[in-house]
Amino acid sequence: MSETQQTPAEFWEARYRQSDQAWSGRANAALEREADGLAPGRALDLGSGEGGDALWLAARGWRVTALEISPTALARGAAKADSAGLTDRINWVEQDLAEWHPNETYDLVSAQFLHSPVELPRDEILRRASTAVAPRGILLIVGHAAFPPWSTHRHDDPALPTPDEVYASLDLAEGEWTVLTSTLVERTVTGPDGSNVVMPDAVLTLRRN
Ligand SMILES: C[S@@+](CC[C@H](N)C(=O)[O-])C[C@H]1O[C@@H](n2cnc3c(N)ncnc32)[C@H](O)[C@@H]1O
Repeated sequence: MSETQQTPAEFWEARYRQSDQAWSGRANAALEREADGLAPGRALDLGSGEGGDALWLAARGWRVTALEISPTALARGAAKADSAGLTDRINWVEQDLAEWHPNETYDLVSAQFLHSPVELPRDEILRRASTAVAPRGILLIVGHAAFPPWSTHRHDDPALPTPDEVYASLDLAEGEWTVLTSTLVERTVTGPDGSNVVMPDAVLTLRRN
């Protein structure tokens, strides 16, 4: 079946099953930077993958809900949590975010590289994510700001959004939020052929007033 015929759940499950580990296993650098110094509370990780961020947060005292469409990715995160003695701090939930409507609030809501080559209503999901942030809570959105050379994107695909464009797409009520970080950060990324490329990430951190 070609990628375009697969549902998002099928695509991502197949993607994770291709290898024993899809990502580095470490937390994302932007999360480490932006969440460092926050008092631990309740955190929500959207599209948590194999759980590198959820595990990092849990090890620092956060109680984490990790939402992810791939059961294989979730199982890998849960196994690591078990080995690290963090099982009771992380709730691993199989969830298609396209159908997700938050009914709780969190002190930190994090979306790290929530991108997909198959259908993903990212703007809509991020708008809903903003409603899941508790008063004085943090919304952290990190995404690729450019396609890497090995990306399979089509030339007529829309460009990836800048932090300002992400902010605008959230359509937030005026005066309710403070922008803590809105910037491009360069990061060295290793491609499938082992070569290193410096790529920009769009980092947006907001605090609900
Ligand atoms: C590029 S990966 C990033 C994973 C992780 N946040 C990280 O930074 O390592 C995108 C993640 O979003 C998940 N995802 C994609 N579409 C989704 C959807 N509709 N609902 C839930 N998760 C989804 C994928 O399975 C994948 O784990």
